[in-house]
Amino acid sequence: MEADKVLEEIARQVVVCTRCMLHHSRKNGVPGEGPANAEIMLIGEGPGFYENEQGRPFVGAAGKYLDELLQKAGLRRSDVFITNVVKCRPPGNRDPLPEELAACSDFLERQIEVINPRIIITLGRYSMARFFPNVRISDVHGQARWVRGRMVIAMYHPAAALHQPSLKLAVERDFARLADYIQQARQSPQVAAKTEVSPERVSEDNKPEDNAPMQLSLF
Ligand code: URA
Repeated sequence: MEADKVLEEIARQVVVCTRCMLHHSRKNGVPGEGPANAEIMLIGEGPGFYENEQGRPFVGAAGKYLDELLQKAGLRRSDVFITNVVKCRPPGNRDPLPEELAACSDFLERQIEVINPRIIITLGRYSMARFFPNVRISDVHGQARWVRGRMVIAMYHPAAALHQPSLKLAVERDFARLADYIQQARQSPQVAAKTEVSPERVSEDNKPEDNAPMQLSLF
């Protein structure tokens, strides 16, 4: 099936999903948006108030700031695919619970498989923990590592910089390095093999093998 059709099917499943308690309080599920062949995928934490209202990711204050950060890195929002680890708003913007992350994980997994991005940018610790479970964001923010043929860059969540002005400089410095990372990723042959993806889950056997780290700013 074509990638955009698979993404549409995933989105249809997200908006009617009842796999966890978050569906009781959601107004709109937020599957994510962007080109089906995006080279770069951004993964945030979960929808907030405005995202829940509109069914679109990063449309509130953090989203506006993210747009600015992307622009400074030479990227347009329309070029990247943006989604979250949980697709429905945790009430009061609380942290997602382990069972909510687990229930939603399959949607993100399938989005990654079908988009097959060369670069994944994690925004905040929940998204980071999917790829790097035992690290602290304060130790690794702004750094990259190859994971299964993709460059994964761990960033602070843009909302963190809005709430803690002391982080703003670090966030802006990290995003300022993005263009260099993108350049390095484009020059690298280490790209995940494209797997044939159906709207259903792809088996573990079809996933590309882990690749050795490259000489980047590694952790
Ligand atoms: N914060 C997130 O993590 N995701 C959104 O979509 C909006 C705010």
